[in-house]
Amino acid sequence: MKLVLFGSKGQLGTELKTQLSKLYDIQAYSRDEVDITNESSVKHILYTLKPNIVINAAAYTNVEQSEQEKSSAVKINTDAVCHLASICEQIDALLIHYSTDYVFDGNKPSDYLETDQPNPINVYGSSKLGGENAIQASGCRHIIFRTSWVIGRQGKNFAKIILNLAQEKEALTVINDQLGAPTSVKLISKVTIEAVHSIQHNNTPWENGIYHLSSKGSTNWHEMATTMIAHASKISDLKFKTSIKNIKAINTEDYPSKVKRPLNSRLNINKLQAKLSFELPDWREDFICIINDILKEETIYEA
Ligand SMILES: NC(=O)c1ccc[n+]([C@@H]2O[C@H](COP(=O)([O-])OP(=O)(O)OC[C@H]3O[C@@H](n4cnc5c(N)ncnc54)[C@H](OP(=O)(O)O)[C@@H]3O)[C@@H](O)[C@H]2O)c1
Repeated sequence: MKLVLFGSKGQLGTELKTQLSKLYDIQAYSRDEVDITNESSVKHILYTLKPNIVINAAAYTNVEQSEQEKSSAVKINTDAVCHLASICEQIDALLIHYSTDYVFDGNKPSDYLETDQPNPINVYGSSKLGGENAIQASGCRHIIFRTSWVIGRQGKNFAKIILNLAQEKEALTVINDQLGAPTSVKLISKVTIEAVHSIQHNNTPWENGIYHLSSKGSTNWHEMATTMIAHASKISDLKFKTSIKNIKAINTEDYPSKVKRPLNSRLNINKLQAKLSFELPDWREDFICIINDILKEETIYEA
């Protein structure tokens, strides 16, 4: 089983590279090594290596900045993915790709099913939806994991920003009216490995399509912030010392931002759960596990 991974230095890409390379023959490329918008370079690699599976963890993920840089977001999240899918179709490789809860407008009162109609309300969401549509139209074999609120040790994410601020400030304000579930890169990687394993051994059939992938249950950013700071404060052998006295909950409309974000990001995970040999964990369990990893790092947050 030969694998190619793109975006190997992102939050998810780093974890996928570490975990998959223990099990498979994998060629992993960071942005410096292969820019996925460089069509001839992607084509050359895939035609030369002829992998069984291509995993795309490369993406334009800066939600705020994408409002100003629409063409870059579309180039990376839609156009490059379209080209990648077309090559996968030509070489008969399975494409595993990651998408986002931000393809939805967040107006549904309950959790989103894979069959619900997307309606993105920002540039990032619409560029990612473009990628999903291109893969589905390409005729390539594919699995698209739509995930939410990704947290890893590498890169920049909500947990690392809050843990960092909690060591400098006495008060924080955090939004509490956006609902969703944090999902660790460890969980996404574990699910990806199970999918690769099933495909290799012809166990559970994975039909082409979209699978919602998140931890179970739901929370909001304010609850996540209070949960992680309370947890970190309890662990006595850490360098982490918080100065926080107050974490104030605010509504989305009171937070200055140029970009609209869905109020409901909850994903229904039943379709994915039915494929897996293990139970998707409750958000608290998955979240605390990755927070523990982040707290072990020498520097919590790199800009
Ligand atoms: N982060 C979230 O909260 C979240 C939520 C839902 C879904 N997702 C999806 O999950 C997947 C993984 O996200 P992540 O959090 O791991 O994102 P990430 O940390 O931003 O990683 C993305 C990686 O892609 C690389 N990249 C960007 N443009 C590229 C290009 N043209 N060619 C090659 N590589 C390129 C980036 O390199 P540079 O850093 O050098 O630009 C970065 O290493 C993405 O598909 C994302 O849309 C993420």
